[in-house]
Amino acid sequence: MTSQEIREKFIKFFEKRGHTVVPSSSLLPTDSSVLFTTAGMQQFKPYYTGTADAMKDFGSLNTVSIQKSMRTSDIDSVGDESHLTFFEMLGNFSFGGYWKKEAIEYAYEFITKEMGLNIDYVSVFAGEGIVPADEESENIWKSVDSSITVKRHGRADNFWGPTGSEGPCGPTTEIYVNGLEVWNIVFNQYYQHADKHLEPLKTQGIDTGMGLERLAMVVQQKQNIFETDLFEPLIKILPENIDIRIQRIMVDHARASAFLISDGVVPSNKEQGYVLRRLLRRLIVHAHMSNIETEVIRELLLTVIKHYSAYYSNLNSETILTEFNKENDKFQKTFKNGLKELEKLTTVDGASAFKLFESFGLPFEIIKEVGGDKVKTLSREEFEAERKRHQEISRAGVEKKFGGHGIKEGDLTAENAEEMKKVTRLHTATHIIVASLQKVLGQKLPQAGADITVERLRFDFTFPRKVTPEELKQAEDIANEIVDKDLPVTCREMDLQEALDSGASAFFKLKYPPRVKVYTVGAESNPFSRELCGGPHVSHTAEIGHITITKEESVSGGNRRIRATIS
Ligand code: SER
Repeated sequence: MTSQEIREKFIKFFEKRGHTVVPSSSLLPTDSSVLFTTAGMQQFKPYYTGTADAMKDFGSLNTVSIQKSMRTSDIDSVGDESHLTFFEMLGNFSFGGYWKKEAIEYAYEFITKEMGLNIDYVSVFAGEGIVPADEESENIWKSVDSSITVKRHGRADNFWGPTGSEGPCGPTTEIYVNGLEVWNIVFNQYYQHADKHLEPLKTQGIDTGMGLERLAMVVQQKQNIFETDLFEPLIKILPENIDIRIQRIMVDHARASAFLISDGVVPSNKEQGYVLRRLLRRLIVHAHMSNIETEVIRELLLTVIKHYSAYYSNLNSETILTEFNKENDKFQKTFKNGLKELEKLTTVDGASAFKLFESFGLPFEIIKEVGGDKVKTLSREEFEAERKRHQEISRAGVEKKFGGHGIKEGDLTAENAEEMKKVTRLHTATHIIVASLQKVLGQKLPQAGADITVERLRFDFTFPRKVTPEELKQAEDIANEIVDKDLPVTCREMDLQEALDSGASAFFKLKYPPRVKVYTVGAESNPFSRELCGGPHVSHTAEIGHITITKEESVSGGNRRIRATIS
């Protein structure tokens, strides 16, 4: 059975049983308390807590999905037989629809009948703290199959969640096949608050997750995930004589990079971009050290696209290769000198490792891998602490630069009060142009950064093609109509979730605090634009003056960049 057949069988099985098929959400979650999407349930968090209505949005209380997921916590283990950074998660979910009996019966039927597998044993929650042992699930398993072995495990193994700082969670039951945990079925019964206390959820929910790679491994009777059809075409590209661990790291990182870039991540030294940078650079150094041409990395990336685009249509070869090439060009210039520098050192501590990163771009993983005895005592914590210290120093430097004779207000910095007025007008103009463009292009435009100087505004957003001059003109006209209407601009402070629920746009790359400011242009009941934003803004749109869009261009990561001025 091919992995594509497994995907199709899973979706059909649950669709037939009243589940609405929901596409995978992006690897970049709207839940800003986490860097990446790590589980299928993440996009459904509001349905468990009752802040969103599944019946209204999906026409059913039950859904099924195959979710792109990324777990960077496993990055140091990649290279063994089962760990990955990127993986696909098959999951069925219920928000007050069905409960334990159906969830267990569905899982049993799917594993034994559809996949034709034998279950070694299952585990249920043994009870810990205020949460009692899950006897109900144990009894259901026995009634489903009296010969099944049921083991009881504690909180460390059989209790899920939450993702992020707080969220739904509960006891789990897990299915083991060939000694591997293949399916995790979570009974969401509680909400864990930021202070860790558990509150029973009003509506109980089901959240299940099954890694496609592991399932394919047992179904296809392979020794490890890299022998399945999900990886075999990638592994085949690499020369046989290179270390198996390196082969696995390379195919994992190529796959993860292709998916990250397609979801709008670009290499950088911050957050998601930093993770991507490390993945790409590790690929480049390993290729170099194993005498593999850079072209082979491109072939890996293209092969990911070839094999995965049947299911994930947003994989874009042009964007992926452009980002790879740019990072490769930049890194090729420095890393060999970095390796030479590393050779000269006798021991490497956090400070010297960071220096190798800062001056030559060598990521921690590479230093750790090629440093031999010199890096024995070097820890990731030490390196990250040094990185953080430097980020703070450079931030302080920026503040100091403006500090003496400058001012800072909300998100904006200016030399003096007069300039602050100008950048504030440009700031509101940015919100208005974004909303105007969204109207013209007929879709939300994920924002990827902005920069405002006294001369002009500039912002980046993810969009797959050039915006035509006609479209720009239309957006400019709409923006100026809004200026002419002299609409009010208001600010309200609210909880983050409330803000997101109210439809406010947010930058996916930023992490927001629990209380946020939301700026609205136009009437509260019928806003022209609504964004999470630190301000400041003008109070009426006519204060902005005439808006002129001056330039539209392509920047990295499938992003477009727009510049505009006001007069
Ligand atoms: N949330 C659980 C997991 O990720 C089940 O989907 O394992």
